[in-house]
This record gives sequence, structure tokens and C-alpha cells, in this order.
Amino acid sequence: MPLSLKLSSRTLLESDSEVIALGVTESPFDKQKALVQLDEALGQKLLAHAARVKFTGGGGQILDAPTFGRLPSSRVVLVGMGKPKRGLDAATIRTLAATAARQAINASSLSLLLPDKASGPELLRAAGEGVGLGAYRFTKYLTGKRKPETELTSVEVSRAGKSSPAEAKGLQLGVELAGAVSLARDAVNEPPNELTPEGLAEIARGISKRGKLKLKVLDKKGIEAAGMKLHYAVGQGSTNEPRFIHLTYSPAKPKAKLAFVGKGLTFDSGGLCIKPAQGMGEMKSDMGGAAAVLALAEAIALLKPAVEVHVIVGAAENMPDGSAYRPGDVFGSLDGKTVEIINTDAEGRLVLADALAYARKLEPDLIVDAATLTGACLVALGKGCSGFYAADPKMAKRFEDAADVAGEQFWRLPLIEDLREQLKSDIADLKHTGERYGGSITAALFLQEFVGDTPWIHCDVAGPVLADRARGIYPKGATGHPVLTFVSFVESFG
Ligand code: BES
Ligand code: MN
Ligand code: ZN
Repeated sequence: MPLSLKLSSRTLLESDSEVIALGVTESPFDKQKALVQLDEALGQKLLAHAARVKFTGGGGQILDAPTFGRLPSSRVVLVGMGKPKRGLDAATIRTLAATAARQAINASSLSLLLPDKASGPELLRAAGEGVGLGAYRFTKYLTGKRKPETELTSVEVSRAGKSSPAEAKGLQLGVELAGAVSLARDAVNEPPNELTPEGLAEIARGISKRGKLKLKVLDKKGIEAAGMKLHYAVGQGSTNEPRFIHLTYSPAKPKAKLAFVGKGLTFDSGGLCIKPAQGMGEMKSDMGGAAAVLALAEAIALLKPAVEVHVIVGAAENMPDGSAYRPGDVFGSLDGKTVEIINTDAEGRLVLADALAYARKLEPDLIVDAATLTGACLVALGKGCSGFYAADPKMAKRFEDAADVAGEQFWRLPLIEDLREQLKSDIADLKHTGERYGGSITAALFLQEFVGDTPWIHCDVAGPVLADRARGIYPKGATGHPVLTFVSFVESFG
């Protein structure tokens, strides 16, 4: 059942939802009016309990307590928001709403009280996004007792005082945008036997239909005919044939033209340079970049910004086989450069090279790519933070600001020119890998060879597309990173 959201000005004491929730900061509890009222209604037992379990309102803390019939609601959830900040930002509201919704996920209804200062369509949109993101579950393959009996279908977002129609609209838009993020999460969670390159094309067809976006899909033959020789090579060892996908959103008077390119490896076994068994299953998430840019297309169709947006996906499966590409092979590329294959597990940059060369021909103002590209980036920044590369510091700043609004973690890494030497080949224009050290940088330098002079941002999202545990707006499993950053980035041009 779909999630229905409404905006109200009821207090939590008046709510008839199964669960009531509110954000609590680390400032003195007796100064937090809604909390004090709730405590009084519960016979002063709530704050006494909070003290006993050492709930202080710290960021990420949750207190989930029964109301024992003293209120119409059966549970009260306090969400720790940390030290009070001067201004309320979108990321804070989004995290609050997501945490509350996730905590109430087994209930059917939730009332969430927003802080008094959470006003305006942007913050209400963030609340809607948060509720939708927090209520997400991937239950498709659960049967019998493992199938959840209930789901969160009705959420009341309440805030003291009158709310405007624009705020109600913002809330609704937010939950729809969370739906777009869910599309990326579903695709990443989907097992690789089910989600093949053709499966990604099928997702693109759905987006194209719903959002009225132009769509072009190339199959194996089409990829060959188009001259995408690197993409073709990566896909040639799998019976699940490669696909190239291009979605276009083209408004009447665009203020900018952006191209987003996603790495869509629906499974990366490493190919002939096969990966160790340990953790290989996680390589179903090697299409996280593709999932994110496809979800962006879905979001853009909802938002309708004055920005032309192209979404391009290179989809393939990297498998070992009699027909698989090998180390030592040399291939041409869409760009024309020849590439000597060193390690068949560095497949992503090959698929991207052709997709970037294609994107460049569209003459966009900027190309942004997202790829689960290197283990080295994970080593550098950990699982929760993506690396990004941008030659232009102004563009880098703009991108960082977008990530801030989205509440997603990115850190800029340098394109160190000295390392480019490592990509010199004796028999072709380029080798496609360098040494182990600086592996995320040499991957970026390789990609840069295919974007030419077009302004470009490369995002190595190898870590954050999957999470070991739920935290903030991210559930365990597929996170939907970096969809919201991309959405906010596109909006900064509109
Ligand atoms: N998809 C992987 C990168 C990756 C590793 C993503 C771990 C998420 C978690 C990529 O195709 C890959 O295998 N990269 C190699 C490159 C190396 C062979 C130069 C790597 O990082 O080890
Ligand atoms: Mn690989
Ligand atoms: Zn890969």
C-alpha cells in the first residue's frame, strides 16, 4: 500500500496514530515544550525513563517507549538531534523524519512533530523525503513468516501553527522524490540473477514512460555498431548481453545542459582476473552509479527544472568465459584511442570511457559520472563517504554545496598529474590501470582521457551505495546514495 502523508497542526497528545515521534535536542529537557507536555501526559514517567536509559538527545539516539494507555497512541519515539543548531537545515529535518519513520516501520500509522522553526516548502519537502526514505524496506523476496505483517501507510507530519498550501505541496513532493530514491535502492538490492543489463534498460523504459522522457537503448549489436568497443569488450563474456541507455529530459528554455553518466555493472565477478569468493556477492551493487542516475531521471521528471538533463548508462555483466576479454587484449574505443587491457577487474572505467565519449558528443556544459569504481577509494575514505574529482574549483564548491543540502558525504580528491605516466602503454595509446597506490586517482585520470575539454565531475561511490547498518537517511543495504546530491546539484542550475 502506498504511503499517505498529511500536514497538520495537531499536537502529539491529540494524535490517534499508533506511534508518535518528536525530535529532542541535547539542550535542557525542561526548555523543550513539546517534550515537557508529553512527559506530563505520561505522568512524568517519560523523562525519568530517559534519564535511566541515558537518553540525552544526542545525535542518532532513539528512545522508544510504550504509553501504557495514557495516550491514544501506543508508543512514543524520541529522536535525538544532537546539540541545538542555530538554523534548521534540510539535512537535519530529513534525518529526523527518516529516523522516526524507520523506527515506526512496523506500525501502520505515525505522527511526527516537527520543530516549530521547520517552516517553508524546502524544509517540508525535506520532511517528506525523510519519511519516504525511512519507511523504505526491500521485502520482495521474503515469504511466510519473514514477510512483514504490517507496513507504515499513514504519516501525519504536524507542526505548531498554520501551514501554507506551498508547504503541503513541498511535503508531498518530498515523498515523491523519496520514491525516486527508492527506485535506485530497489535496483541495487535486486539480486544479479534478476537484474541484468536488460533489467536496467527495462527500468529506464518505466522512467521514460512515467516521466515522458526520450529514451534510446542499444543492445549488444547496437553497441558494436556504434563503435563502443570498450563497452562491448567488457560485456562479451556474459550471456546477459550489455545495454547502452540514454534518457533525455529537455525543457523549453534550458539554462544549462548537463549529462550524468552511470556505471551499470549488474554483476562484477572480475572476469578472467576473477575476484576472491569473499564478498563477491556485494558486486551486485556495481550498478549503483547507474541506479543513481536513473533515479535522478525519475526525480527530474517530477521536478521539471529549467535544465536539460541527459542520463546515460553503460550496462554490462563482467564474467569469465571462453569469449571473455583478457589481459593483454587491445581494443579501440568510441573516442578513437586504443587501450591495452591489464586487469579485467578494472572493467568499470572501460564501460565509462565509451559512455563519457558519447556524453561529450552531446556538447553538455558539464558531465557528471557516478561509479562504484575502485576499492582504493573505499580504503581512502571509508564506507560512508564518496570521493569526487573536479578540475574546476568553482564547480567543486557547487557540488559540495549540493551534497550538504542532501546530507550526503563527499570528499574532493586530487587529479595528480604525476600519476598519469602509469597509464602509458608500449603497444597502445593507454593502459587502463596503474599501480595499486593511488588507484582511485589513476582510475579518474584514465576517465579524464575520454572527456576532453568538457567540464567534468567524477564521483567514485564504491563505498556508500551499500551500508552495513541503518544510519540517518540510509537503511541497511542499498542506500540510494548519491541521488539526492545529484538532484540538489541539478536544481542549483535551474
Ligand atoms: N567494482 C569494483 C570496485 C569496488 C570494489 C566497488 C569494492 C565496491 C567495493 C571495480 O570494478 C574493481 O574491481 N576495481 C578494481 C580495480 C583494480 C583491478 C585496478 C579494484 O578496485 O580493486
Ligand atoms: Mn571490477
Ligand atoms: Zn566493477
